[in-house]
Amino acid sequence: MKPLIAANWKCNPTSQKEAKTLFEGIKKRVKNIKNAEVVICPPFVYLSILKGLTLGAQNCYFEEKGAFTGEISALILKNMGIDYVIIGHSERRKYFKETNEEINKKIKRAISAGLKVIFCVGETSQERDEGNKTNIIKNQLKEGLEGISKAETKNITIAYEPIWAIGTGNNCSVDETMTSILFIKQTLNNLYNRAVADKTRVIYGGSVKGENSNSYIKEAGASGLLVGGASLKTEEFVKIVKSSI
Ligand code: 13P
Repeated sequence: MKPLIAANWKCNPTSQKEAKTLFEGIKKRVKNIKNAEVVICPPFVYLSILKGLTLGAQNCYFEEKGAFTGEISALILKNMGIDYVIIGHSERRKYFKETNEEINKKIKRAISAGLKVIFCVGETSQERDEGNKTNIIKNQLKEGLEGISKAETKNITIAYEPIWAIGTGNNCSVDETMTSILFIKQTLNNLYNRAVADKTRVIYGGSVKGENSNSYIKEAGASGLLVGGASLKTEEFVKIVKSSI
């Protein structure tokens, strides 16, 4: 399977003009790359002005439609031609108090709308220091995937994003990433079966840069990358994409 290289722009950039410039710069340099799947996840409002690369949203609501002021549903995204949605990002969990239960509802709704899901899991530094990392990840997976069938898992990519590695420059080591990916696969095997564990892509995110990206794919066994800060720099992001193939 091709590596999935997803750009999570988060709440950036702050104007349409900058968003278009960044997008067009990336597009020009990656559009002929066939051996990697590149997905750009900009803020919602830019989704309709960016054309020519696969797009993802950074969140969606768990109801289909109705009186939910300020929310964007999975169905709205699908009907706009959006392919992917990131669900359960640690920043959503931290700042917007998203629970595993809400994340589960969002994943279900996104899949039923026909979106592909990038489902984020990962531990805080405290949880890691206290030896709770695997329990936390297991629980995020178990509760996040509750009621989702084996067949539906084909629409899900798991993003392992240790929170202590996000935006800190302190990227996770190859060994620790590999161990975490194997643990996620083992958990999928326990929740589903070996085939689901083998086929589900597990990607890595957390201070990925052009200089470290290759080792996650080539050595740690990641099926792709979820890139934050470095995806806002055209050349750096393109370097990451190229290093993955
Ligand atoms: P950084 O690449 O900025 O560490 O962000 C990672 C991330 O949160 C991607 O979703």
